[in-house]
Amino acid sequence: MSVQKEFSKYANQYNSYNIIQQLVAKALVRDITKKPKNILELGSGSGQIYKNISWNVDSYTAIDFSKEMCDLHPKDKNTSVSCFSFDSKDFLDFIKDKKFDLVISSSALQWSMDLKKIIKALSYVSNEINAVLFTSNTFKAIQNITAKESPILDSDCIKEAFSLYYDCTFEVLTYNLEFSNKRELFDYIKKSGVSGDSNLSFKEAKHLFKTYNLNYLEFEVIFIKAIKL
Ligand SMILES: C[S@@+](CC[C@H](N)C(=O)[O-])C[C@H]1O[C@@H](n2cnc3c(N)ncnc32)[C@H](O)[C@@H]1O
Repeated sequence: MSVQKEFSKYANQYNSYNIIQQLVAKALVRDITKKPKNILELGSGSGQIYKNISWNVDSYTAIDFSKEMCDLHPKDKNTSVSCFSFDSKDFLDFIKDKKFDLVISSSALQWSMDLKKIIKALSYVSNEINAVLFTSNTFKAIQNITAKESPILDSDCIKEAFSLYYDCTFEVLTYNLEFSNKRELFDYIKKSGVSGDSNLSFKEAKHLFKTYNLNYLEFEVIFIKAIKL
């Protein structure tokens, strides 16, 4: 299943399966000191970031390629929610000639097909980016069993892409999320929106279920504060 379909399919349940995303979204907003007035958010989902912003903004531009997620995002007179991919030409056309005080993104850009291209485009429209991305070390123990590579970007690629256009500080954090049984743990992977298109056959999935003997899932995230070079 594609990432877009996966997010759309589980959009209604997403708010019950996004414990780590909620945590990092809160931390990301808490770190914003200047109370920017014009904000662009990439991969806005059901509005975790927006809900944590406590000051008044003049404009909040949210982008997400899942229509179901866009439908869940809170709306008000200063908010615009647009449904397209941050990897698309539509996105590049959309931001061209616009200016933002801050670009923010939480738990989304790890899916980018070309992060360098996005960061380059953002460098023309904003002097600052605050972002947090999951890294390929998320679900590491699962990858060790399935011998499949993570579908998301690794921290070195992420650091390289941001550092080309911005002066950055990076912080890499890991979280372990415990479960009382395996069924809940595997259900969480499917609905949390971090797994992506894992492409496991029935046999491989069965083997994984049998072999995985940790009672927790591992998540790794990278926080980025970027100021234009
Ligand atoms: C894990 S959710 C995070 C949502 C929200 N930012 C949060 O913190 O809860 C990732 C979001 O990114 C969106 N997304 C993933 N790839 C995208 C892309 N290429 N373009 C736009 N949105 C994308 C998904 O539809 C989903 O809503």
